[in-house]
Amino acid sequence: MHVPAAGYAGGRLMRIKCREFRSTACRSQGDVNVPFVVTENCINCKHTSCAAVCPADCFHEGPNFLVIDPEACIDCIYCVPACPVGAIMEERAVPRSQRAFIQLNAKLAEVWPKIKASKSPPPDAEEWDGVMDKLKLLEK
Ligand code: SF4
Ligand code: F3S
Repeated sequence: MHVPAAGYAGGRLMRIKCREFRSTACRSQGDVNVPFVVTENCINCKHTSCAAVCPADCFHEGPNFLVIDPEACIDCIYCVPACPVGAIMEERAVPRSQRAFIQLNAKLAEVWPKIKASKSPPPDAEEWDGVMDKLKLLEK
């Protein structure tokens, strides 16, 4: 049975997703979920505004980075405009150079604690926006 979980109506995109998208019934109806992924620019920026808007409590917090649990994500896209540094994107839009973050989100979500509200970013967050090659700085 389909249970509408979140609707996003914003000019360019309007869709209703189903909490049970992974069930056989939903798959048979062609409702395929594509989770969202936190990518490199979050490292050392960690604004956490994404966690406050997620209706499915998908976010998990590490020392200097957040990740999304792909099993929990309902593909609602609310977190994307909430991130001031553009670090969140749909899995299939992640560029080749950042594909490693797809697995990192999944693996780290299994061990890092959930975060459901925003908190103050690091004092130097703005200085890290757009810095390249931050993966080596990721603290696990
Ligand atoms: Fe949460 Fe973002 Fe997934 Fe929506 S798209 S459920 S806000 S992680
Ligand atoms: Fe990171 Fe952006 Fe969330 S910087 S913590 S993905 S708001």
